[in-house]
Amino acid sequence: MKAELLVEKAMNLGSFLTPDAIQLLETLPDEDIQKIFTQLKGATVITREMVAQVLETARPPKMKPEREIKAPKMVILKGKDYPSCGGEVEDFQQLFRSRYEKTKSLLRMRPEASQAIPFSSLKYLEEGQEFRIIGMVAEKRVTPKGHYILELEDLERRERFWVLRDKGESYEQVHEVVTDEVIGLVGIKRQVGNISFITKKILWPEFPKITPHRAEEEVYVAFISDLHVGSKMFLEHVFERFVKWLKGTETQEKYKHIPPKVSYLLIAGDICDGVGIYPKQEKELEIADVFKQYERAAELLSELPEHITVVISPGNHDAVRMAEPQPPIPEEIAKPLHDMGCVLVGNPSLLEIEGVRILMYHGRSFDDLSSEVNVQNPCELMKLLLKKRHLAPVYGGKTAVAPYTEDYMVIEEIPDVFHCGHLHVAGMERYKGVWLLCSGPFQGKTSYMRKRGIEPTPGIVPVLNLKTGELLRLHLA
Ligand SMILES: [Fe+2]
Repeated sequence: MKAELLVEKAMNLGSFLTPDAIQLLETLPDEDIQKIFTQLKGATVITREMVAQVLETARPPKMKPEREIKAPKMVILKGKDYPSCGGEVEDFQQLFRSRYEKTKSLLRMRPEASQAIPFSSLKYLEEGQEFRIIGMVAEKRVTPKGHYILELEDLERRERFWVLRDKGESYEQVHEVVTDEVIGLVGIKRQVGNISFITKKILWPEFPKITPHRAEEEVYVAFISDLHVGSKMFLEHVFERFVKWLKGTETQEKYKHIPPKVSYLLIAGDICDGVGIYPKQEKELEIADVFKQYERAAELLSELPEHITVVISPGNHDAVRMAEPQPPIPEEIAKPLHDMGCVLVGNPSLLEIEGVRILMYHGRSFDDLSSEVNVQNPCELMKLLLKKRHLAPVYGGKTAVAPYTEDYMVIEEIPDVFHCGHLHVAGMERYKGVWLLCSGPFQGKTSYMRKRGIEPTPGIVPVLNLKTGELLRLHLA
């Protein structure tokens, strides 16, 4: 819809539009514009942030569930299964094309990137003219003088963009750029020696603050991960304490009312330690047979109160394909878990529990991301994934990727809760309305952690009230 029409429409409703709101509205279909005007009726001034907020909160309420499950108020929206896929070069090309297209659509929601031009049009720019582009980072390197060169690709060609040392916003931002992610750039065409394009600002898709969904009833969810059953370092006594807390037998008086309302337990991967995951692992295994590890895990989980629905997604130690997205742990391997009614889902998975949307992802990609951006804090890493709107932005590191024709690792929808594990270090923080929950492990320090200087924080369990959004942090170790 054209700017004049938008202004007229707004004025008829008694509202004024800010210029940046007009810019964003111009990019939207009429149907969305109508929705936005209806929701913002009565507002004197409509800003871009208000428009973006409506767009975000008007997330499709009726995503088709992949599977209805027994738990009456839980639906698996994504991650029910990731069946086998190809492995040819063309499959990877298609995967990266999907990543590019999906992220580009998210970036275009930002007014600064809505007018991005293809790389093929860059040559028509005049000296000093501004450019806005969207591309996938093929390479990031630093020159001897401390400038950065970002080589980006769109679907047609590759181009080089400079980030000059100590020059403004882009130099502050460039350390967060990782290879293979899709970003937007705003800059100036300037021909100086071998420099043609100077970057002023780097754009990630990000998201505006959300208003989280809430459950109607007072229901709690407990979030755990990284049990590593089968490992000599599995902290069985800490897990038993957790079970006792859920049974209400070892619960502080002031929290006694909570355990009966904990209806769901989500386990974000590494339920077992696996076999042959790292060199000489057998020396650190108490149970060296993977089937027996799952049997033992099922025995431990069978101690939980019956009213709890247990949801398990795999991690890099579980007996399932390593490449992400990972399918659920197969029935033939984890039969005891299937038989006792655990809900086995893929990694990642998007669940809707009592109306609240929860994204579960084990967190293998943290290894690659943290080494590229030099960040170790769990919540900071989770924020970066949300900012980049991708669960595994770096390709070719420790995180193997399955070449589906669609990139399922793009975070298309911002969840109310983002649950990870893998780091064995707990972290919890509310960020732009989203609860970031990185659960602690039930495993002590392994030789691998000793080598890497990682200090695990076992037995820290977040328990979330889905009605109020309040979080209780259990310290069980
Ligand atoms: Fe783990």
